[in-house]
Amino acid sequence: MPTLRLPGLVDVHVHMRDPGATHKEDWDTGTAAALAGGITAVLAMPNTAPPIADAESFDGALAQARKKARCDYAQFLGAGPETKGAVFHAAERAAGLKMYLDQTFGPLRLDEMTLWAEAIEQWPRDLPIAIHAESRTLAAAVLMAHLYDRPLHLCHVSTREEILLIRKAKERGVPVTCEVCPHHLFLSQADIPRIGEGRAEVRPRLAAPEDQAALWENLDIIDVFATDHAPHTLAEKDGENPPPGFPGLETALPLLLTAVGEGRLTLEDIISRMHENPRRIFNLPEQPHTWIEVDPDAEWEIRGEAQLTRCGWTPFEGKNVRGKVKKVVLRGSTAYENGKVIVRTGYGRNLRENPSEEP
Ligand code: NCD
Ligand code: ZN
Repeated sequence: MPTLRLPGLVDVHVHMRDPGATHKEDWDTGTAAALAGGITAVLAMPNTAPPIADAESFDGALAQARKKARCDYAQFLGAGPETKGAVFHAAERAAGLKMYLDQTFGPLRLDEMTLWAEAIEQWPRDLPIAIHAESRTLAAAVLMAHLYDRPLHLCHVSTREEILLIRKAKERGVPVTCEVCPHHLFLSQADIPRIGEGRAEVRPRLAAPEDQAALWENLDIIDVFATDHAPHTLAEKDGENPPPGFPGLETALPLLLTAVGEGRLTLEDIISRMHENPRRIFNLPEQPHTWIEVDPDAEWEIRGEAQLTRCGWTPFEGKNVRGKVKKVVLRGSTAYENGKVIVRTGYGRNLRENPSEEP
């Protein structure tokens, strides 16, 4: 097959670790990894250190991004237990509001239902909210979307009960959308012995093979594929208290293209879930003169060592895939070609800023 040209992919769920844990990743290495994976825009999560839950930390993270990012981006604000009204002044400049209703890495968890309601009521109705909620908490989030009649985007759905609940909700017209991560599509509990217990820690956890199968059976309900790229170093993953999270920026597209080659997905499924739907749900502007070129027949082996992410490992180590990103053109410039990132740090632009306002 000849080279395929696809639109620049958008990853709506990325942990950049900048500021606070730049030994795991920063805006430079994270966006380089994105480009290598055919991703031209990333939405960054707020569980950094400090967490991005006030105007000051928000501006601090954006200052790093402005200096270092190689692909385009926007930054989420987090609703923390201490979050006060101030954060909502930055709403228009944020990717959206991220609400953690369940256990997570970092202090941004909202334990009380009153806090959920306050955040939903205060955040402007027309701006996106992304929710980390699992199992019964996800059911509560679906109910919130219904009661407030306001779109909620449900992050990293991973189980049969969750995807079936979302199917029912959508059938009843509840305004929810959802994302699924490649690691929940391509891995399950059955892979834990091979990956190793500590390395396999991720939230939501790798699920049962039946859950994995249910995600594939309900593809029509999945609006978005997002990586939840959550890099931690190997020393951390193999240490005493392994933090949860997988890197994913460089493996998502090759895994999905391999599934296309196997007849389990279509290219259209990838384009809708990594370009069209993310743009619609998060109201992102078009990236003009932006595309990626892919060799659909290139066969290669995934190796953590060869990745651009700083974390230096992957749960897909040794997996053979078919489909390789050859070239990425971002706003008219060749950003990545034949294994090399070409654009400089600082080339990436904030998708929530008007180009004329940029310094
Ligand atoms: C995330 C991280 O490391 O930031 N880890 C994960 O397993 N997904 C935290 C999170 O998204 O809850
Ligand atoms: Zn995450």
